[in-house]
Amino acid sequence: MTLNSPQAAPVSPIPFVDLQAQYVRIKEIVDARMATVLDHGRFIMGPEVGELETVLADRAGVRHGIGCASGTDALLIALMAAEAGPGDAVFLPAFTFTASAEVVLTAGAEPVFVDVDPHGYNIDVVDLERRVAEVSGRLRPRAVIAVDLFGSPADYDALEAVADRHGLVVIADAAQSFGATRRDRPVGCLAPITATSFFPAKPLGCYGDGGALMTDDDDLAATMRSICAHGKGSGKYDIVRAGLNSRLDTLQAAVVLAKLTVFDDELAARRRVATCYNDRLEQIVKVPAGSNDAQSAWAQYTIQTTDRDALAAALKARGIPSAIYYPRPMHLQPAYAKFGGGRGAHPVSEQLCESVLSLPMHPYLDDSTIDRICAAVEAAKREVAAA
Ligand SMILES: Cc1ncc(COP(=O)(O)O)c(C=O)c1O
Repeated sequence: MTLNSPQAAPVSPIPFVDLQAQYVRIKEIVDARMATVLDHGRFIMGPEVGELETVLADRAGVRHGIGCASGTDALLIALMAAEAGPGDAVFLPAFTFTASAEVVLTAGAEPVFVDVDPHGYNIDVVDLERRVAEVSGRLRPRAVIAVDLFGSPADYDALEAVADRHGLVVIADAAQSFGATRRDRPVGCLAPITATSFFPAKPLGCYGDGGALMTDDDDLAATMRSICAHGKGSGKYDIVRAGLNSRLDTLQAAVVLAKLTVFDDELAARRRVATCYNDRLEQIVKVPAGSNDAQSAWAQYTIQTTDRDALAAALKARGIPSAIYYPRPMHLQPAYAKFGGGRGAHPVSEQLCESVLSLPMHPYLDDSTIDRICAAVEAAKREVAAA
C-alpha cells in the first residue's frame, strides 16, 4: 500500500478541535450569558469581567485575577510589571510558541533561550542555570518565562530555587495549562505571576481573543491592573506609567463564565482521551511522558516519532488531522536568530521540532473516533515502515 492509496481512504474527516460540539452542549448557557451583556450594554469592564476575575482567582487559590485582551498581552503585562527592559535578560524555552518570545522584545529586554526536557517538553532547569551564568556579565538576569507546554506544568519547585539564587521573577506562561495541577496545587498559584490565554482552542477559551493574569501579590496586581488600563493611577486621567489598552471584553468574559460550568468535566474528558491514546499507542510511538507530580490540562496530545512527516501525510490520507507544534525552535526563527546561537545551541528543542506530532484532542472525542484515530496511527505507522 502506498501513502496515498485508495485503500487508505478515510470515511469522514474529523475535527482537530471541536468547538461546535461544546457549543451544542452549553448553547443555552452561552446564549443567556451573552444576551445579558447585550441587555445591560456594559461592553467594556462590565460586571462579567469582575465576576470572572473572582472565579479565576478562587480556582487558582490566589487573591487576584485580572482579565486582559490576550495571552500575549498577559505575558507582556507580566514583564512590564516585573520591570524587564533594556539590559535585562529574560529566559525562556527555545521550544515554545512565538508569543512567549516576542513579548520579551516588545518589553525591550533580551530573550535568552533555554533548552527543554526531552520527555516533559518544558524548560530544562539545569540548562537555565547554565544560561544565567553565561549571560550574567553582559545582561542583568531579570525574569524567566516558564511555559507549561501542551498543558503540563513546568517544574516550578526547581525553578523557584534557581530564581531565588539569581533574583529572577518567575512568570508562568499558562496559555495552555489553565486547569492543570502540580502536586495538587492549581495552575495560577505555582508562580508569582501566571499568564493565561482564552484563545478559542485553548482548554478554557472564549469566542475571540482574551487572556488573564493571576497573582497573590497585591502590589503586582495593582501594577498589572494599571498597565491594562493605560497606566492609570487613582483616577481615569491620572496616568502614573505607560500602559496598554488591554481589557478583556465583557462579552468574552461572559463566554468564559459559561464555559466554566463544564470546565471540570471537560478536563476529566481530556484526561480520559489521553489515557485511551496512551494505552493504545505506547507500543508504537513515544507517547507523552506522564508525571506523578503534574496533572496536565491536555491542551495537546503530542507524540514523538522519527518518521513524523510521513506519518502526518499517511494520517491525512485517512482523514485524520494532525498538527506540528512546533516545526522550528525559537532560536532558529529569523526574528530571534541573533539571540539564538544557531543550530546545535538547543539540541533537544531542535530534535523535538523534527519529531513531534499532535493528534486531535478535545473533550468531545468519543470512543469510536478515538479508536479510528488510533487504528489510523497503527496502519499509517506500518505503511511508513514498509515504504
Ligand atoms: C504557549 C503560549 N503562550 C502564549 C500564547 C498567546 O496567547 P494568545 O493567542 O491568547 O495571545 C499562546 C497561544 O496561542 C501559547 O500557546
